[in-house]
Amino acid sequence: MEQYVIKGGNPLVGEVEIAGAKNAALAILAAGIMTDDTVTIDNIPDVNDINVLLEAMRGIGANIHRVDRHTVEIKGNNVNDFSIDYDYIKKIRASYYLLGALLGKYKRAEVALPGGCNIGSRPIDQHLKGFRALGAEVEIEHGKIVAEAEKLRGTHMYFDVVSVGATINVMMAATMAEGTTILENVAKEPHVVDVANFLNSMGANIRGAGTDVIKIKGVNRLHGTEYSIIPDQIEAGTFMFAAAATRGDVTVLNVIPKHLEATAAKLVEIGCEVEEFDDAVRVVSKGNLKHTQVKTLPYPGFPTDMQPQMGVVLSLCEGTSTITESIFENRFKYLSELARMGAVNKVEGHSATIEGVKGFQGARVNALDLRAGAALCIAGLAAEGVTIIDDIVYIQRGYERFEEKMRSLGAVIEKVSSERELQKFMFRVS
Ligand code: EPZ
Repeated sequence: MEQYVIKGGNPLVGEVEIAGAKNAALAILAAGIMTDDTVTIDNIPDVNDINVLLEAMRGIGANIHRVDRHTVEIKGNNVNDFSIDYDYIKKIRASYYLLGALLGKYKRAEVALPGGCNIGSRPIDQHLKGFRALGAEVEIEHGKIVAEAEKLRGTHMYFDVVSVGATINVMMAATMAEGTTILENVAKEPHVVDVANFLNSMGANIRGAGTDVIKIKGVNRLHGTEYSIIPDQIEAGTFMFAAAATRGDVTVLNVIPKHLEATAAKLVEIGCEVEEFDDAVRVVSKGNLKHTQVKTLPYPGFPTDMQPQMGVVLSLCEGTSTITESIFENRFKYLSELARMGAVNKVEGHSATIEGVKGFQGARVNALDLRAGAALCIAGLAAEGVTIIDDIVYIQRGYERFEEKMRSLGAVIEKVSSERELQKFMFRVS
């Protein structure tokens, strides 16, 4: 099993290129099968989740041509199977975007019901509510969601919960419904807007993405397009917080600063200097950082996917900080791992109290999920001594060339897959 091994203590300094947004790319790739024409998508992050979704799409007959690491050509005219294997949904929940794409284009789809994960139960009732509102029959049969419709008709629907996935999935299905659909209380994340822009580049008629109300005029067919994915705000935020934790000076390149406003605001609040350029943001962390309060919220609030990274940095800030996690019910588990490195924290329900400490000691810890894993790497970079991170497969799901990018900023980090490689690293850094 592969591990990261990190020798902490080096401030991260330099520039790092940010990849395309994983959570935009997953939905956009799925939507690519909604036309029989060729769709070319670039600036896709080369991460495991993307590769699994492309395999799932091949599995139903889509022609997928990997032009290069970051560019894919999709031709959906050969799609001949509307049932997505359980194996794929078990590997990545976002395979459920094929539900909205297949239902929109073919008026039928079968996808295994996704289970929960390490951060919460992750229900999909709002997705199903939206499909039913569009006129689809949706049943759960033997662990599978079976959705079909004679035709989909425009509807006016209010989401009970602000949900990124449900907003995107129902928007996709409504794109090819008859008539007009109005969706209210929708998610406004940049990747929701990116999916709407992608569908519009294929001839869809979607207005209002990024606001509280999305209006969709259904079209009969969609045509081919060429499209480039937006930069990943969470990857960018992760490197920005790594700069803060290691008292470094890092510039993230190829970003949209507007998408990073909530993240940048918290860094300024704790005492970092943040400088914005057209497509870059620089974070400098010199003196002592000070405590603050954070509450995760749907965009444009502070992103839940940055919460673990925030927890690590706040553990190194003077004073007592609090984090309230309002999106997921179980996203503080990383704090127990962090406590094994010397952090002092207490979780009570949706809130965590964090007492600033002088520093962390390296230890062996577990990456419990994608963002918790990245956060524990940040802790290792700031720690005194060596940290070993197990289960890094989670991190590789969402971060392209993570250890290489960290090394380019001065981090002493290696990916090892044997005791022998681990010992070689320990010898080299001792
Ligand atoms: C997306 O998950 C992201 N994943 C998550 O990123 C991210 O944390 C989340 O949005 C919030 O921003 C992808 O885009 C692939 P939600 P999603 O539906 O769509 C509840 C990462 O690290 N809910 O916005 O599943 C749900 O339980 C991942 O990249 C319902 O109750 O999140 C949660 O409490 C982790 N019913 C809240 O809404 C539903 O039908 C927000 O979830 C759907 C969701």
